[in-house]
Amino acid sequence: AQIVQAEFIKSSVRTEDCPSDGLPEFALVGRSNVGKSSLLNSIVRRKKLALTSKKPGKTQCINHFKVNDSWYLVDLPGYGYASAPRELRTDWNKFTKDYFLNRSTLVSVFLLIDASIPAKKIDLEYASWLGQNQVPMTLIFTKCDKRKKKKNGGKRPEENVNEFQELIRDFFQTAPPWIMTSGVTNQGRDEMLLHMAQLRNY
Ligand code: GTP
Ligand code: MG
Repeated sequence: AQIVQAEFIKSSVRTEDCPSDGLPEFALVGRSNVGKSSLLNSIVRRKKLALTSKKPGKTQCINHFKVNDSWYLVDLPGYGYASAPRELRTDWNKFTKDYFLNRSTLVSVFLLIDASIPAKKIDLEYASWLGQNQVPMTLIFTKCDKRKKKKNGGKRPEENVNEFQELIRDFFQTAPPWIMTSGVTNQGRDEMLLHMAQLRNY
């Protein structure tokens, strides 16, 4: 697997402020703490390029990272962070949704879903919104290294993954592509790179 170089470019709070060089980009979105920043670091093999934290709500802007001088990975704030002030929450919603609908260089949204727990209502709602608005998306299941635990519903990641896909089937005309990943073992890294290369060459 490749990836030569990645660098942080800028943080934006509005779509209009995002980089304007026209390079294609992929955006990581998902619940707070699902592992967006960790996955980004795993893809570019840099432990601390995107800041991660045990505390949800770490990422608060649209963060552009340029890879190999030719495309972007975009780290977005998480949704469903219950302890964020209501005002901030609606604001996040407004600016991420505006970004999804109006960012012309956005090739695909990567919707991250935690495979170590059963489907969450808010994730189903988000998938439904993306489907209804025909935003191109890929399902990225995270934390696939985690063992099943009773307190997490007692199911293996594979079972949670199948159930999630079953639950969102009606939101899409054709089932979105999906990849199982782990930021700990780097599972899915090469598959993601290949997937992004294929999408860029369309
Ligand atoms: P926000 O920026 O707050 O929205 O969170 P985020 O989605 O960027 O999550 P982040 O990457 O900061 O990870 C949250 C926590 O989950 C951290 O404690 C990570 O170490 C852990 N984590 C992330 N990915 C994985 C994974 O693949 N496996 C396991 N076991 N833990 C993970
Ligand atoms: Mg983050």
